[in-house]
Amino acid sequence: MSELKLSSQQLAAIAGEFGTPVYVYHAEKIKAQYERLTNAFSGINAKFFYACKALTNINILRYIKSIGCNVDCSSVNEVELAIYAGFERKNILYTSNNIHFSEIERAADLGVNINIDSLSNLEKFGKKYGHSYPVGIRLRPNIMAGGNLKISTGHAKSKFGIPLEQIEKVLDIAKQTNLRIQNLHIHTGSEIKDVEVFAKGMEVLFEIAHYFPELEVLDFGGGFKVPYKSDEEGTDMELLGQKMKEEFEWFENKYNRKLQAWFEPGKFIVSEAGYFITKVNVIKNSNGTVFAGVDSGLNHLIRPMFYGSYHQIENISNPAGPLNLYNVVGNICETDTFAEDRELNEIREEDLLVFYNAGAYGFEMASNYNSRFKPAEVLVKDGKAQLIRKRDSFDHLLYNQIELADL
Ligand code: LLP
Repeated sequence: MSELKLSSQQLAAIAGEFGTPVYVYHAEKIKAQYERLTNAFSGINAKFFYACKALTNINILRYIKSIGCNVDCSSVNEVELAIYAGFERKNILYTSNNIHFSEIERAADLGVNINIDSLSNLEKFGKKYGHSYPVGIRLRPNIMAGGNLKISTGHAKSKFGIPLEQIEKVLDIAKQTNLRIQNLHIHTGSEIKDVEVFAKGMEVLFEIAHYFPELEVLDFGGGFKVPYKSDEEGTDMELLGQKMKEEFEWFENKYNRKLQAWFEPGKFIVSEAGYFITKVNVIKNSNGTVFAGVDSGLNHLIRPMFYGSYHQIENISNPAGPLNLYNVVGNICETDTFAEDRELNEIREEDLLVFYNAGAYGFEMASNYNSRFKPAEVLVKDGKAQLIRKRDSFDHLLYNQIELADL
């Protein structure tokens, strides 16, 4: 993991001030990740759209904008959040999946970049807008890659995008409705370490790019891997940037056309900038297993149970304690294991456990299951910790419910 980290002392102070469980985000780390991207791809004409599905707190969106990054949205509600955060429409990208055409019309009314992922919506779009609204097409590249099946999106059985083998149909629709296809898009999956997978995606797009005379952009989606374990490596961005430069140069020379590259990184930008702090409620010994039960659960961080994801955990209250094996578990009414047989410094009740890589798809996937409150969120910028979302309160549990009088 890289050096730019919040210290245990800072995290403990935040837990003391704002309580637990709490998500903490480190602004400067977000910026460093964005800068690593812009440096790695400086050899090509690249534009980055933060996939805000990873974390949509309005302050994070505004910070992302302030560092010069653009935004990718997966629902029209995210588009509206992005507009509310102050992004210019041309810097907002809307990449949807299996949505009703009316939502695409809404995005077009808002004037943002749109990627369409089905033939039927493409045809409707062509009939309504013809040449007047440049559009992108999400293709399914038929490449199997990604950290696990749930987050693999480009393979031949996936629901995402227009299958590559239907490209003739895309061209028919484009011709019949006089579409202006500006962008070809793929998103192969999340947590892809292997640079060759991105190279293969590039190959797929370059092979068909010349069919689209008005094409300006190749959009490679997101999916860069970040390290989750201390001895693990993420995608080699610098190598990928170099490879892309070579491929783009080859294409430009062969076809005498210049294209822009778009990327939609989510995890890469915010995962490592996030920490989730919990407090240990109960230590339980059972037939040789020691459970450390924390004041959280799969309702707050679902990734371990849903994807089998690994999050590094540290006992910041007892960093010099002897190492023991623990099952770190939650307080929810079904099995919610964060970590099994994990070696950690001796855990005592009331100790603070920090989960790393909690910036992406952490708070964003949290729920009120068991009528528990969603955690607070804190942003650390210039060394100063500020609350950016209050912990839920009882009102949130009843919000939007209609209490019938005659029961
Ligand atoms: N672009 C599109 C079209 C996507 O569907 C996604 C993620 C991204 C970009 C950003 O991918 P990233 O750079 O974050 O890997 N909840 C899961 C991850 C789901 C990703 C869904 N799509 C998790 O916690 O691992």
